[in-house]
Formats: sequence, C-alpha cells, structure tokens
Amino acid sequence: MRVLGIETSCDETSAAIVEERADDLQPWVVRSNVVASQIAIHQAWGGIVPELSARQHIRDICGVVERAVADAGGLPYDLIAVTQGPGLVGSLLVGLSFAKSLAWSRGVPFVPVHHLAGHIESLVLEGGEMPLPAVVLVVSGGHTSLYRVPARGVYERLGRTRDDAAGEAYDKVAKLLGLGYPGGPVIDRLAAEGNDRAVPLPKTRLTHPDRNAPELPGHRDFSFSGLKTSVSRYVVQRRAALSLPEDAPLPEPDVRDLCASFQRVVVATLLDALFDAAREAGARSVGVAGGVSANSRLRRDALARGAAAGLPVLVPALSLSTDNAAMIAAAGLRAFRAGARGEWGVNADASLPLISHGPAEAGPHV
Ligand code: KG4
Ligand code: ZN
Repeated sequence: MRVLGIETSCDETSAAIVEERADDLQPWVVRSNVVASQIAIHQAWGGIVPELSARQHIRDICGVVERAVADAGGLPYDLIAVTQGPGLVGSLLVGLSFAKSLAWSRGVPFVPVHHLAGHIESLVLEGGEMPLPAVVLVVSGGHTSLYRVPARGVYERLGRTRDDAAGEAYDKVAKLLGLGYPGGPVIDRLAAEGNDRAVPLPKTRLTHPDRNAPELPGHRDFSFSGLKTSVSRYVVQRRAALSLPEDAPLPEPDVRDLCASFQRVVVATLLDALFDAAREAGARSVGVAGGVSANSRLRRDALARGAAAGLPVLVPALSLSTDNAAMIAAAGLRAFRAGARGEWGVNADASLPLISHGPAEAGPHV
C-alpha cells in the first residue's frame, strides 16, 4: 500500500509518499518527503503569526503535494493521511480540506491523524518497530509529553508540561537574548561553544503536597516556565553587573555560556524523566521525537544514557525530527490498519486528544 501524507498544523507545508512493506525491521519506506518551511515569513515577527501561516499553506499546498507525488515516481496512492490536530486551526483546515477534496476526487480513503502520533511513529520510520513496551518522549514547540507504548499504535500518556513546552522555552529564551526565531537551532549551535556550568540555573522538580505519593497522576509532568524566568533574571543581573543599558545584548561569551547552561538543564530534566519512566514501566526501548529531538546534546546524551542502561534508544533522522508529512503517513497507515477511516464531516481540531489505534484500544490521552 502507498500512502500520501499531508501535514499543515504549524509553519511547515509538507507532503510525503510512504510505502508499506511486510517487514518488521522496516515496515515503512519513505519514497518522498517535501517540506516547504515558512520560517523566513515568521522570522520578521519573532514568532508564528497564525493568519500568515494559513494563507501561506494555501499558496504552497498544491505544489508541495504535486512535488511529493512526482519525487516518488508519479505512481498512484491508495490512502491519504492528514493531520487533523492539534495545531493552528486555520492551518490545519488547509491540509484537511485539501486532503478530503483529493480523496473524494481520486476515490481513495483518507484517515485523520493526530500530530503527536505522527511524531511517535517517526521513530519507527527510522528505526523499525520498537521493542515493546517502549517509553517515548515527544518534545516540540507545542508539546512536551511522555508516553508509554505497550502495543503498536497504543499511546498512554505518563506526563506532560504544565506550562511551556521545551521548544517554546528555547524559542522564548532565544527571543530574550535577541537570537531570533526559531530558538532551538541557534541556541544549540551557541551552546556547543559555551561552558555549561557557568550559570547556575534550577532544574524544576514538581512535587505533590504529599511527597510520599509518587504514584499520583502528574508526578511525571514537566514545567519550564521557572527556568525561563531564571534566565531572564540572570540577563538583567548580568547587564547591571556589566553596567550595560537596559535591552542591550549581553557580550557573546556570556550568551554562549548561558545557552550552554540552559541547554544542560533542559536536556537533563527531559532525560531524567524519560529514563525514570522507562525504568518504572519496564521499558524494552525508549524514543525521543519531535522538533527538539534535533538537538545535538539531547541526542548525544540520550544515546549515552541508553547505552549505560542497556536500553535501545531511537531518535529520528534530522529530516524526520521537525514537522514533516512522512511521519503523518506512517501514523495514518498504522491507524488505517487498525480500522480507522475518515468521515467526510470530520473537522480540524486545535486541541485534539490523542486516541490510540491498536489492539488494546485506549485513550483519549491528550
Ligand atoms: O515538532 P516541531 O517542528 O513543531 C511543533 O510541532 O511544534 O518543533 C519545533 C520546535 C521549535 O520550538 C524549535 O525551536 C525546536 O523544535 N527545535 C530545536 C532544535 N531544532 C528545532 N530545539 C532545540 N534544539 C534544536 N536543534
Ligand atoms: Zn510537531
């Protein structure tokens, strides 16, 4: 079976062709994966402007889909998988309406996909079926969540962020330091040249009023807003210490040290939670997916911790880390094989809950 995937939930218009194979080591093969990024448009505004995003998706979608089909040899496809949510509703609507129209006119079925199911299945696209149970950390600009995957297509949420997502924290800290949008790649690059112990930043630990009840729901949750505030406070103090005027950029060596220290704390917070949850869940593998999984230190430290714990660690290729349609095609195929079908009346949903499509139907898990 050949699937056309379509993704327009945020600032990337993407289409991909993915083929199914009867092979657990590599159940899906990416034939094409075209991404039209809108970063240059939103950069001028310091973040994503939803209305501009939706309008640009409309301009790009036809060409992106045509290109994905052509790159895969122009062969017909048997199924269309499209992101239904979560994301920016105007942007989601472009992809979903386009996918429904195409499915209707071509006479092929379509299946709506949850964006995070796409990120989770990007791991399988890259590394083959994961040894189960697995624990997967999804870290993106909009989400920071931990899932237990007890069976293929089943996602049980163990934790999520209470405030900012990790990618959002990167973007906000970059903005504060005058580094532009998106913040992840530039902080990652500067961090490599800084001293990661130079700035003392706190690692947030969420505790319950009853500290002896770690099994209470939410004990695996994350919080990044305190870290962001500490960075902001440090910048103000440092400016004062250097007698710089308000709003002046910090000297480059200070910025590099701050980026390195911030990155060390974010990565340690994420990986402590991932590996604690993996131990508790008796996981046979762990995965890190989503835009922030492109982070060089997160990838390196995850692999090192996995090696020390004797656990296989899956991370997607860089092209499958940030938003793309190949992962949506993969998750769509998984859902289709478990019986999911799109209805013509289905609507985009900015806060769609994640519903499992597997042998042991479970959910919803937001
Ligand atoms: O998954 P994604 O492409 O879009 C969402 O679903 O949100 O993730 C985008 C996020 C942005 O916040 C961006 O700053 C972050 O991923 N990101 C990174 C890196 N590359 C992208 N964060 C840290 N290090 C990176 N190298
Ligand atoms: Zn994403």
